[in-house]
Amino acid sequence: MKHLIKIEDLTVDDINNIYECACAFERGEKKANFKDKYVCNMFFENSTRTKLSFEMAQSKININKFNFEANVSSINKGEDMFDTINNLVAIGMDAFVLRHKDDNLIQELSKMSYFKEISFVNAGSGKSAHPTQALLDFYTIKSYFSDLKGKTITITGDIAHSRVAKSNIALLKKFYMNIRCLAPIELQGEKIEGVDYYTSLKEAFEGSDIIMALRIQKERFENETLNLDDYIKNYQINENTMPDNAILMHPGPINKDIEISSSLLNSNKGETILKQTQNGVFIRMAVLNNIIETRGF
Ligand code: CP
Repeated sequence: MKHLIKIEDLTVDDINNIYECACAFERGEKKANFKDKYVCNMFFENSTRTKLSFEMAQSKININKFNFEANVSSINKGEDMFDTINNLVAIGMDAFVLRHKDDNLIQELSKMSYFKEISFVNAGSGKSAHPTQALLDFYTIKSYFSDLKGKTITITGDIAHSRVAKSNIALLKKFYMNIRCLAPIELQGEKIEGVDYYTSLKEAFEGSDIIMALRIQKERFENETLNLDDYIKNYQINENTMPDNAILMHPGPINKDIEISSSLLNSNKGETILKQTQNGVFIRMAVLNNIIETRGF
């Protein structure tokens, strides 16, 4: 694995290898020490979980990490991304973890022959991809259901603006899960092949093993309008609507009392969500480990 840009680039074997490596890190059976490797974290969009769990993962496998501070960098003097990365490579970086609002920037950078010795890891690109989130969600789901084939997941909320939904759908399809998307029409976005779309919570949740809620991303709305009171009335996950036998997931951050009620979050059903965050560290250790071991830099 040279880069991690999107789930679609990974085979089932790649995903299983990352999963096994993350398991070995979690169980303490595997250690890694990359003290001669240098990774730069570049976050141009806000983040708590992804940024800090990449940093924790890097500490745990002894990678030298640098946090690029976009707002005090020469980007603010007009320097473009190509020159910025080029100069950071000249300083000695081996790899970049990048979150950016541009859907295609990381793909374009990774394809430049100029950067052929460098690895890029996508920490969230616009509305298109968040591969490490999908991998940590897969890891979390596997801790409840060892065989995913035939299991049913309902992804609900702001599907239209969600890179998490797109990456999860791409991954879970590879493992033959039944995938449902539940949202009002205005939040469904472009239809994805192999996914069943619902506007009725009752119908979508019937027989679901996993409910994955997504945040309403108001900051990514363009011309869309949403009546929040109607959304809460028809789509909120709470004690009345959450299926007893399903697990509840959310990538975070959560709009409390909008997509999920606070009382449900505070119940046993809410516990999976922090496990997702915890698992993010093992998955990011595994992703960085696999890239470094494959490339050797
Ligand atoms: N799930 C996720 O990407 O969270 P952050 O935006 O806090 O990194």
